[in-house]
Amino acid sequence: MKFIIAIIKPFKVDDVREALTAIGIAGMTVTEVKGFGRQKGQTEVYRGAEYTTNMVPKMKLEIACSGDLAAQVVEAIQTAAGTESIGDGKIFVLDLGEAVRIRTGETGETAI
Ligand SMILES: Nc1ncnc2c1ncn2[C@@H]1O[C@H](COP(=O)(O)OP(=O)(O)OP(=O)(O)O)[C@@H](O)[C@H]1O
Ligand SMILES: [Mg+2]
Repeated sequence: MKFIIAIIKPFKVDDVREALTAIGIAGMTVTEVKGFGRQKGQTEVYRGAEYTTNMVPKMKLEIACSGDLAAQVVEAIQTAAGTESIGDGKIFVLDLGEAVRIRTGETGETAI
């Protein structure tokens, strides 16, 4: 199993959610975050406001998936979240050791 963390532009969350649903992803966690990338001090625009500070609002997506699906998840996020401009974000892929569905006690891939 893999655990995929994506930092994306907030207005792209719905597009990414649709793309992930289409490939069979059944769950996702979304958190409002702030961060910075390489362009420290360079202007990024968010909701019409220019951010010249080094902290820009982003959304963090967390998705647990089977190892088989991970490449498709990464591609779907990259396609759906991309605007071909700076600040489009990052995708991190981690190995996931275990998952548990609390209600049933199912573990592993059947729990995700
Ligand atoms: N190395 C990193 N570690 C953790 N989070 C990061 C890292 N790089 C970027 N991020 C997160 O991703 C967000 C978007 O980064 P961003 O897309 O600007 O990266 P970049 O490397 O500057 O690429 P680009 O040149 O396309 O802007 C940042 O605001 C931050 O939250
Ligand atoms: Mg950047």
